[in-house]
Amino acid sequence: MRLVVMGATRYAPDVLPYNIHHVAIAVEDLDAALDGFRTLYNVEPLSREIVADQAVEEAMIAVGGSHIQILQATEADSPVGRFVERNGEGLHHIAFAVVDIDAALEHLRAEGARLIDEKPRTGGGGHKIAFVHPKETAGTLIELVEVGHE
Ligand code: CO
Repeated sequence: MRLVVMGATRYAPDVLPYNIHHVAIAVEDLDAALDGFRTLYNVEPLSREIVADQAVEEAMIAVGGSHIQILQATEADSPVGRFVERNGEGLHHIAFAVVDIDAALEHLRAEGARLIDEKPRTGGGGHKIAFVHPKETAGTLIELVEVGHE
């Protein structure tokens, strides 16, 4: 397991996460999941979109200064489809906001981290995103989202 010391001065700040961008939950039925959040927490999704590249339909719910992303696979044979098949519904990944995703990936590569995405791709909301292998962080899939300084 690899640890990054938050706030350490040994790295340029742009390579480190500075916020939780979202926490993602994989579900079987997006509408049912959104109904649950609406009923229990009185929250409405801010956006909802299909991200064909990841074979998911996703909705974003704002909670304070962060977001919950609800993911439903659009194809059974896809990363999220296989995840739900294997593990059932539940926490899927944590997304870190980064200023410069290319610099962040370069830093992770230099540290020998296994990357799922060697190069950024376009994710929800048009952001540049990349996934880092869950084996690097105690079985937790990490997504990097380039949002600059929000
Ligand atoms: Co995400």
